[in-house]
Amino acid sequence: MAITIKTPEEIEKMRVAGKLASEVLMMIGEHVKKGVTTGELDKICHDYIVNEQHAIPAPLNYGNPPFPKSICTSVNHVICHGIPGDKKLKDGDIVNIDVTVIKDGYHGDTSKMFVVGKPSILAERLIKVTQESLYKAIRIVKPGVRLGDIGHIIQTYAESHKYSIVREYCGHGIGATFHEDPQIVHYGKPNTGEVIKAGMCFTIEPMINAGKRYSKILPDNWTVVTKDRSLSAQWEHTLLVTETGVEILTLRDEETIDRIINHS
Ligand code: MF3
Ligand code: CO
Ligand code: CO
Repeated sequence: MAITIKTPEEIEKMRVAGKLASEVLMMIGEHVKKGVTTGELDKICHDYIVNEQHAIPAPLNYGNPPFPKSICTSVNHVICHGIPGDKKLKDGDIVNIDVTVIKDGYHGDTSKMFVVGKPSILAERLIKVTQESLYKAIRIVKPGVRLGDIGHIIQTYAESHKYSIVREYCGHGIGATFHEDPQIVHYGKPNTGEVIKAGMCFTIEPMINAGKRYSKILPDNWTVVTKDRSLSAQWEHTLLVTETGVEILTLRDEETIDRIINHS
């Protein structure tokens, strides 16, 4: 499938979907605490998306085998695609909540790390470096930049902290389809790969491990964990490439990075 360039009407729908996805992450924060189960967090998000936002949780029944829940909850050494269940969160856990909503036919996809009680210094550092790697990548996005430049900036920063980049999963084009071309890998060489153009929408969603980069899929066919059981962190935003830079469609109120970055 070719890379799509969004029309002004589609861009407006992407803005709405992105805002709704960000609002789910802002809503769920106060519920992420010791003793709550990831299944309970899923139910709260599901009901909010369906009953208050009048939107559709994209993960539910997505893929093959169909993903059974409405959000992904990835705890500690789970890299991504964790299935909400009846395990209670405990002090020191770190959890990525990944929300994708469909509104008026368009997708907004975003994820954030939450901590339960007091995380270890290592966990705190990993989470911060992973978020900063996403921000560093976002700040260079504009027409003419190449996808290898994005991967390179993330990889260089993560590896400078002795962390590793997961290679099997990546960001993606997004729009009327959940996962569109192009693939946005989080490693690479400068001046290589597809050239970014205005009107493209894609996610950047680095997964960074405290240990080695290798992953494996659990028998549920969804949950992805680090092979060495080291901690993993991930942050994700959905972006629109503008004529002069980038607009973060899933920005949350708590974030200090600008929603619109203009390089002209
Ligand atoms: N939200 C994930 C992403 O960022 C995809 C989850 S697919 C699911 O691309 F089926 F696990 F929900
Ligand atoms: Co995504
Ligand atoms: Co996502």
